[in-house]
Amino acid sequence: MLPGGEPSPLSWLHPVFALAATGLLAYAASLGLRSRERGGAHLRPRHRRLAPMAACSIFFSFVFGIASTLWLRPDLELAQSPHFKVGTALVVCLSLAALVSRKIPTLSSARLLHPAFGLAALLLAALQIFFGLRLLRL
Ligand code: HEM
Ligand code: HEM
Repeated sequence: MLPGGEPSPLSWLHPVFALAATGLLAYAASLGLRSRERGGAHLRPRHRRLAPMAACSIFFSFVFGIASTLWLRPDLELAQSPHFKVGTALVVCLSLAALVSRKIPTLSSARLLHPAFGLAALLLAALQIFFGLRLLRL
């Protein structure tokens, strides 16, 4: 926090990092979906490798957003924004997608549920950009 309760310029780090994490998630999702197309099976290992990294980046963005609000944005109240609620739903959906992915080899419904949770998470991540922009000090 800067003297006088002004938001610190460091508070830009969370939005920039989270935007990159959202881009990585979108790319990982496209690999997963394209891996189902004819001739796309070779993309599956790249999806398996990148998707957990994308999920971890999003989980980190959530914690980073809370820390940033607490320490760098004295003008904001913690956990009062739609951005917080959508972020929580995003973390839940992504965790479910990650958990269900482990069942894909043995449970046929997991092949439907996994991309469904993943795409819901991607939609929520896109919504996060919209609600996040409203919190920016421009
Ligand atoms: C996609 C993953 C994202 C997650 C999980 C996430 C999560 C969070 C959380 C939990 C907070 C605390 C909010 C509160 O307590 O009310 C926060 C704050 C904030 N978020 Fe995000 N966010 C994400 C993306 C973004 C993006 C893309 C932007 C900008 C376009 C953004 C802009 C902000 C801003 C401006 C704050 C206030 C703290 C600060 O200025 O650093 N967020 N975020
Ligand atoms: C972000 C949205 C996501 C989408 C749209 C998506 C989509 C897909 C699709 C379509 C498949 C192929 C399933 C099949 O036909 O057998 C797949 C497989 C897989 N996904 Fe995802 N996924 C997403 C996120 C994730 C995440 C977050 C993780 C892990 C943290 C993950 C881990 C895996 C794994 C390990 C497989 C391979 C399972 C196997 O073949 O044994 N995915 N995904």
